Amino acid sequence: MTADVGVVGMAVMGQNLALNMENKGYTVAVYNRTRERTEELAEGRGRGLRIVPTYDLPAFVSALSRPRRVLSMVKAGPGTDAVLEELFPLLEEGDLVMDGGNAHFADTERRLAQADRRGLRYLGVGVSGGEYGALHGPAIMPGGHREGYETVEEVLTETAAQGPEGPCCAYLGPGSAGHYVKMVHNGIEYAIMQTIAESYDVMKRGLSMAPAEMAEVFSRWNQGELAGYLLEITQKILRYSDPHTDEPLVELVLDTAQQKGTGKWSTQVALDEGAGAPTIAAAVFARIVSALKGERMAASEVLGGPAPELGADKNQVLEEMHGALYLTVVSAYDQGLRQLRQASAERGYGLSLSEVARVWMDGCIIRSRLLFPIRKALSEKPDLPFLFLAAPFSSRWREHHCALRSTVASAHQAGIPVPAMSSALDFIDGYRTGRLPANLIQAQRDFFGAHTYQRVDKDGTFHTQWDEL
Ligand code: 6PG
Repeated sequence: MTADVGVVGMAVMGQNLALNMENKGYTVAVYNRTRERTEELAEGRGRGLRIVPTYDLPAFVSALSRPRRVLSMVKAGPGTDAVLEELFPLLEEGDLVMDGGNAHFADTERRLAQADRRGLRYLGVGVSGGEYGALHGPAIMPGGHREGYETVEEVLTETAAQGPEGPCCAYLGPGSAGHYVKMVHNGIEYAIMQTIAESYDVMKRGLSMAPAEMAEVFSRWNQGELAGYLLEITQKILRYSDPHTDEPLVELVLDTAQQKGTGKWSTQVALDEGAGAPTIAAAVFARIVSALKGERMAASEVLGGPAPELGADKNQVLEEMHGALYLTVVSAYDQGLRQLRQASAERGYGLSLSEVARVWMDGCIIRSRLLFPIRKALSEKPDLPFLFLAAPFSSRWREHHCALRSTVASAHQAGIPVPAMSSALDFIDGYRTGRLPANLIQAQRDFFGAHTYQRVDKDGTFHTQWDEL
């Protein structure tokens, strides 16, 4: 059997994507470094299907129809380099290699150049949606050689989630555009998760609510404008009882969040590029603080604070928290999109942000109903600098900013950290302030380093001997 497409890397994501493509009518050659994984698929879920198991790369390559189309689903980093090093020499001019792992976009640029030198086509492909998405339809964010995309467009768009405004897959741009967008997707993912976790903490410690009761609130919120995958899974998690203890399982989970690095990259790159992404950064730092479990336990014995009770009307607190969650989540999307806009201009990606919003509408982890008005706002005004300047977000800001302020203030008063919410509030407040105190910072820089400053009342560059006054 000649295969239409090949998948290298038979961990769960690779297996599921191979099965998904097969389900769309394609014959899929599969290969894994260790034989057992390939056998597991071929003799298990792939039995009787158009799955062609192969046990070395030359056999894998010969199983493919030409031009060959190979999707690598191996671990990002050295694992991907090792596969490509073996794979590239086996391929011929015009063949296409796609990397569907969470590669750093700089690695994608390097690999693209390597592929170019061999006359191969290469796509860095962001894939989001976890195991379930890979099998039933993920969001797919390809970038790189456009001609390469054209040879695989049909396979990818059929494999992707079929969203409300078309398949959740689109060619995003040249170079590392696809992996850059996926990196920022993950930054937004971190920020939304952190914001939901902060709401949970305020409900739990500030309002003494039990998980089942919180689940009701999150489910209600998930019926409205904020509906989305992360809220949906949160209410499911909160309802889950541990079969061994009958306790809500979430309360038995260690409070230390790990990270594979894409949220950190997103923040590092935002800093490198001077893009304002404080809520995404706050979420990364919150995970870092969560990892200091031992230090935190020790400090909790020494450093006192207020009792973590909000002591206010519960319904009112919850209503305000909903407004706070709404504004913070919109701010997280805004910060990610802002970073993409800036990166697109600097790196020549030519991104259409409304198309990015469309691709995120289904299949991916940050899919939510909010992406409808976000996409609309970006389609109507592609150069919109700040989501809150457009409908419906400008009116939501007016309606909810007091709620965000009081949620942050009461959490702080009760000693409950809300870094995502407070960073979003500070960012929006900073952005809407015509005159910030940076004049004083400029004066300080000029004082100690003769860095000069500009004036508001006349043109030119000035330096003052501030000491002489
Ligand atoms: C996705 C996810 C996925 C990511 C996990 C874990 O879009 O499907 O972003 O790609 O690997 O969410 O990420 P962390 O380990 O960094 O939390």
